[in-house]
Amino acid sequence: MGLYLQRCLFFTGCPFLVATGHRSYCCDVTLWYFTHQNSLSLSLLHSGNSSGDFNHFPGDPEFGDIIQRAEQAIEGGVFPERISQGSSGSYFVKDSKGKVLGVFKPKSEEPYGHLNPKWTKYFHKLCCPCCFGRGCLIPNQGYLSEVAASLVDTRLGLGVVPKTKAVYLVSETFHYNTIDRAKSRGKKYALEMVPKVGRHFHRVGLPPKLGSFQLFVEGYHEADYWLRRFEAEPLPENIRKQLQSQFERLVILDYVIRNTDRGNDNWLIKYEKPGEGEGEKVSCAIQIAAIDNGLAFPFKHPDEWRAYPFHWACLPQAKVPFSQETRELVLSRLSDMNFVQDLCEDLYELFMADKGFDKTMFERQMSVMRGQILNLSQALKDNKTPIQLVQMPRVVVERRRTGGQGRVVTLGTAFTQTFHCKRPFFSSW
Ligand SMILES: Nc1ncnc2c1ncn2[C@@H]1O[C@H](COP(=O)(O)OP(=O)(O)OP(=O)(O)O)[C@@H](O)[C@H]1O
Ligand SMILES: [Mg+2]
Repeated sequence: MGLYLQRCLFFTGCPFLVATGHRSYCCDVTLWYFTHQNSLSLSLLHSGNSSGDFNHFPGDPEFGDIIQRAEQAIEGGVFPERISQGSSGSYFVKDSKGKVLGVFKPKSEEPYGHLNPKWTKYFHKLCCPCCFGRGCLIPNQGYLSEVAASLVDTRLGLGVVPKTKAVYLVSETFHYNTIDRAKSRGKKYALEMVPKVGRHFHRVGLPPKLGSFQLFVEGYHEADYWLRRFEAEPLPENIRKQLQSQFERLVILDYVIRNTDRGNDNWLIKYEKPGEGEGEKVSCAIQIAAIDNGLAFPFKHPDEWRAYPFHWACLPQAKVPFSQETRELVLSRLSDMNFVQDLCEDLYELFMADKGFDKTMFERQMSVMRGQILNLSQALKDNKTPIQLVQMPRVVVERRRTGGQGRVVTLGTAFTQTFHCKRPFFSSW
């Protein structure tokens, strides 16, 4: 389908047609969307306990295979294990041998989800609703923020976010309410006792949960751990450059998606000391993984009271201007309006699949993201450092509504920029 036609369809709000685009990711998302919409009525007709009917990744068989291994492990009794730290329900999902395959974060167990397993969060929400959550984020879409961060990472060729997709999983170790558990037990009992009646049940097991599934990366430590070690034992120059380059990719990701939760516990570093004389052979001895991207894509800039600064801005790496390598990697894409518009469209296809999707709010999210991209492109052109980047005035780039011309707009004339010069009150810069 031609780009123009795709865009027209997008602006006329026809997601089904737009979603038949040429990119394989779109296929995944489309299928996931259709599955999400229709599978509840189709696949639940099977009286199984599996989530397999929901998960289709035709554009990415490798990922599909991993999910299948996870499902088989669950069926064989190797259940996902809840990660004890954290503010919501997150699980290490394993294969049948107990090897961790990924991290699953169900939508229903997010801080705003109705099945959040953390009592502290429940009371916080109940007793102090005005301080709960982040006022600039759309609540209960953390799993999509995780998936969208992975999409942005891929589109920009950054390679710092472990692959993340929306997946359905079911496991008795997930947090279900007593009604769901009682219903499931009752149906199983009925199926055993009166198979004739039991066959009429749409589903016997617990309901599958929709959430983000991020591939597990091995051999990584929290950034804090390595950064302290590097202070004590400085890195060889070639490795220091690699770290700098990876760090810049993290900065670009966080800045574009306006991550509000990038503490030094939410990015990981893997460092394998090259052996004697091996230095030249190892292409990238140090790597960064940007995990926990569920609190990004705000619909407005964080306000003066709660600025949610990027914690990496305090690091010495943030005082170095962006390298030529990084500029070459992203600048041409970021300053291309067609690229940015395509990215917005891909994100639209992703976010629209959520039950709580609101197009107006989505447009506001994209206005913030376009503003971030505008600042970032300028900073890269001007040889700025990450610290200088975060000091730039915040900007939103809104798509102007053009009444008489319908929703098909001419690129280049349809956007308005608004600058906010007020500095945040609580800020590290
Ligand atoms: N993709 C991954 N690969 C390897 N380890 C991971 C991955 N994702 C998460 N972890 C590990 O699990 C821990 C918790 O993950 P994460 O921070 O994403 O969960 P969370 O429930 O959102 O926690 P919090 O709310 O405290 O930030 C991380 O500190 C990290 O050690
Ligand atoms: Mg975390």
